[in-house]
Amino acid sequence: MPRTSVITGAASGIGKATKELLEQRGERVIGVDLHDAEVVADLSTAEGRGALVDAVREVSGGRIDAVYAVAGLAIPAPATVAVNFFGTVASIEGLRPLLAGSEAPRAVVVSSMAALMASDDELVALLTDGDEPAAMDRAQVLAKEPSTTGQLIYASTKVALSRWVRRKAATAEWAGAGIPLNAVAPGVIATPMTADLIDTEQERESLLKVVPMPLNGIAEPIVVARLLAWLNSAENTHLCGQIVYVDGGSDAVLRGDSVW
Ligand SMILES: NC(=O)c1ccc[n+]([C@@H]2O[C@H](COP(=O)([O-])OP(=O)(O)OC[C@H]3O[C@@H](n4cnc5c(N)ncnc54)[C@H](O)[C@@H]3O)[C@@H](O)[C@H]2O)c1
Repeated sequence: MPRTSVITGAASGIGKATKELLEQRGERVIGVDLHDAEVVADLSTAEGRGALVDAVREVSGGRIDAVYAVAGLAIPAPATVAVNFFGTVASIEGLRPLLAGSEAPRAVVVSSMAALMASDDELVALLTDGDEPAAMDRAQVLAKEPSTTGQLIYASTKVALSRWVRRKAATAEWAGAGIPLNAVAPGVIATPMTADLIDTEQERESLLKVVPMPLNGIAEPIVVARLLAWLNSAENTHLCGQIVYVDGGSDAVLRGDSVW
């Protein structure tokens, strides 16, 4: 029987490339997005997150094999907190019971190499505590200066998301239930999210000074899709709680031998 996968953010960029790749490989994909998807749901709201789980349960018949939490925003605003952290965690946790009937259940989230950039300790702590109202309030304060403190919002969501994966993956709910839970951390990927940042050669060069990608530079979304597909395939039996950097070398350049 072909695998059934759920992909959030399936209408664009990395999510769309992943959907196309899996479908080419014969998998059934239930795409979730604000538009152009089998399941239309707004992951920034509690209602939308609940509707996502209900709709996937119905469309899938109550059994899925893999969850790809890809949807995200990169704007210096509270909505980025709602989607990137709380929407992602709610997708993964809400869909986990539907993985129970799979012979090879898998889950993966999309973090970012931006987790290595400056972030806001207060916001990261509130996200780690799962306090959405307080996190939204903090993001509102940071968003008042979009080009300075506002820039900390995106990185903070990705720090908290990577940390969430590290803390959850080895627990009874995930590893104990035979479900590998991992994350990918892309460098700069050419999608609608980054289009305005990499429009000209000059823009690309200045971005790559901040996000060094010595191996092949800016990547196409299919590069991330292939890694996601493998992490959520039956072949992946032992990766647990890994944040896999698919970044052309940013992590190696920026963190050197301080981690491995
Ligand atoms: N593009 C990059 O350089 C890059 C780098 C690192 C990480 N990422 C991460 O990869 C993921 C995908 O980004 P992308 O580059 O493909 O961006 P994208 O903008 O092309 O796609 C994001 C998708 O998420 C959906 N989405 C946004 N808000 C939503 C909501 N409230 N409810 C449901 N769906 C919603 C959008 O409609 C869109 O289809 C994001 O989590 C992003 O943070 C991207």
